[in-house]
Amino acid sequence: MLDDRLQAVADFVPLTSSVADIGTDHGYLAIELYKINNQRRVIAADLNAGPCQAARRTISEAGFSDSIEVRQGDGLAAIAPGEVDTVCIAGMGGKLEADILAARPLVMAQLKCVVLQPQNGVEYLRAWLYDHHWHIADESLAKVDGRLYQIIKAVQGQAEPLTEAELILGPSLIKKRPGLFAEHVQNDLNQLDKIRQGLLKGGADTRERLGRIEAVIKLLEGFL
Ligand SMILES: C[S@@+](CC[C@H](N)C(=O)[O-])C[C@H]1O[C@@H](n2cnc3c(N)ncnc32)[C@H](O)[C@@H]1O
Repeated sequence: MLDDRLQAVADFVPLTSSVADIGTDHGYLAIELYKINNQRRVIAADLNAGPCQAARRTISEAGFSDSIEVRQGDGLAAIAPGEVDTVCIAGMGGKLEADILAARPLVMAQLKCVVLQPQNGVEYLRAWLYDHHWHIADESLAKVDGRLYQIIKAVQGQAEPLTEAELILGPSLIKKRPGLFAEHVQNDLNQLDKIRQGLLKGGADTRERLGRIEAVIKLLEGFL
């Protein structure tokens, strides 16, 4: 049984897609994706030997060693172009997740869907997708142990650029306003307020940045 964060990632993977879980670590997500559809190809990949070993162990304990392949490799280098339709990357920084996608354009070109759960840098990741002919098809929020996570499902195709609010809060989250949306906005406001407090202690050279942060705070307050 997955926690709400990884369950939200699994929920965005199309039912009939073949899938690679990049940065699988324990392998829980890969196992769940196989359980949901045991006819599809599931690859569990990780950069490091320890997590690959852990994934092999969990997958073996679940009885799926013959069905889920574990591969050691750096990001999308673990899969060949066209080998899977969908890639999941969960639990890493948004910048690293974008770097992983950027590093293998030939693999990316053959994917139908990517499901991303960044720990931070979500704005950067959204901007990267829209700058590289991908767009967001859906988003959700999950809360585990008091921490809120954003989950993004993206598909290929150029779309209208995101507004500043959409980049920060998420275009689908703004549209859907799920139950945790107000908490999500408040989290961003709290972070911006910390930056604002720091800048207030600065000199005249921080004034422009301060004005910018205050404008973003005002923008986000409109979504509460
Ligand atoms: C915090 S764990 C997240 C595990 C799981 N995806 C989750 O969300 O619970 C991050 C995993 O990503 C792996 N990792 C980091 N950089 C990677 C890369 N460039 N390619 C593949 N795996 C990577 C690490 O070895 C680690 O197992």
